[in-house]
Amino acid sequence: MSTVAREQLRQRADYTHKFNANTGRHGWLRLTPAYSVKIVEEIISRYEDPMRVLDPFCGTATTALSAAYHGHGCVTTEINPFLVWLGQAKTAQYSDALIASTRRACVRVVESVKCKAVEPMKAPPIHNIERWWPEETLEFLCALRSGIEVESKEGSPERALLLIAFCRTLIELSNAAFNHQSMSFKDNGQLHFPLDMDMGYVFSEDVRFVLDGAGENPEGSGQVIYGDSRNLSETVDGVFDLVITSPPYANRMSYIRELRPYMYWLGFLDNGRDAGELDWIAIGGTWGVATSKLTDWERPTKSFEHPLLDRTLKGIRHHDNKNGRILANYVAKYFDDMWKHFNSLISVLNDNSEIHYIIGNSTFYGVLLSVEKLYVVMLERLGFEDIDCRAIRKRNSKKELFEFDVSARWTGGRWR
Ligand SMILES: C[S@@+](CC[C@H](N)C(=O)[O-])C[C@H]1O[C@@H](n2cnc3c(N)ncnc32)[C@H](O)[C@@H]1O
Repeated sequence: MSTVAREQLRQRADYTHKFNANTGRHGWLRLTPAYSVKIVEEIISRYEDPMRVLDPFCGTATTALSAAYHGHGCVTTEINPFLVWLGQAKTAQYSDALIASTRRACVRVVESVKCKAVEPMKAPPIHNIERWWPEETLEFLCALRSGIEVESKEGSPERALLLIAFCRTLIELSNAAFNHQSMSFKDNGQLHFPLDMDMGYVFSEDVRFVLDGAGENPEGSGQVIYGDSRNLSETVDGVFDLVITSPPYANRMSYIRELRPYMYWLGFLDNGRDAGELDWIAIGGTWGVATSKLTDWERPTKSFEHPLLDRTLKGIRHHDNKNGRILANYVAKYFDDMWKHFNSLISVLNDNSEIHYIIGNSTFYGVLLSVEKLYVVMLERLGFEDIDCRAIRKRNSKKELFEFDVSARWTGGRWR
């Protein structure tokens, strides 16, 4: 695409996570790096026959759910246990009886919190928790979380649905500006909700929203698997006809940082060190301990190399750039990981399968990192055919940042 045509592209909020908010189960919980279900729908509606779809980077299970609604079978892998849990709940089948029993459980939970009939759980060890919730709200959340434990069975679908509603409530009642945890905090005294508001009502409304989505069961199936997309042959069974995914971007966005309130409250995390360790095993993670590990990271001898990548790394590493060395390591590791991923992908692709990678470029110290071009090079090296790279939207006000659909066909490459 020419530069002029690219510049005419709009930011398109409908191509971002914002579109998902009122789209049934897709809107249950927000994750900023989630892509819009609209992107997936536009790709998937080109295919009529039922297919085996793969999403190696599940996130909030947008692909799996959309594929299942279109009658396909989708397998998706994810390295964050909280997202595996969420994806499994989002793609599950819920009967009318189950939805009715969850509604009754919600009434019991709200009642028991109101009458102080449950012993509140201890607040989770979130750093500076008082910045997130005023004391009274925190007490309410601790009681609500306990009420859910008491009124639903461990591991039951009722509990999963109530906990998803709980996650919505805890963000709605928080001080996080714009009502989202990736944003900065509001100043004291500027609470989103007045302190006298009925917090039980907020939760009941969240349960209602979640149950509306639960009533919309997909025709096809979605299987969400805990696993590493750098090692797909060990993680998934069989071969796939279509891959639709958005891998982590090389932009230092930490999924753990954004998900930490949910993960602490639901018991997926209980200290900062583990949060950093989880970020380190994810591709593109740099939070907490992950940052210091990058300092010592050495590029393996058999890593992906290309003059465009070398030039970019050199620009980032430049001595004028304060953290240039560590950020160059970050980018080099990102491509090492993605190269491992693409190498493992070809072992699980059917002949004539198609892949779509939705990915954005980045900049570091004004040096443009053309991630999409380097994806094209990796796919060419592996023997993919009909490789195409189409800009689909402008990312933000920075004129050089775009999102692309990098697509290709696999016919067995030079390996068969
Ligand atoms: C851009 S997000 C995917 C968003 C997703 N398309 C959605 O709509 O929610 C990338 C995801 O890849 C996951 N991830 C990172 N490294 C991974 C790995 N090695 N194996 C599997 N998943 C990984 C991250 O935890 C994150 O959830």
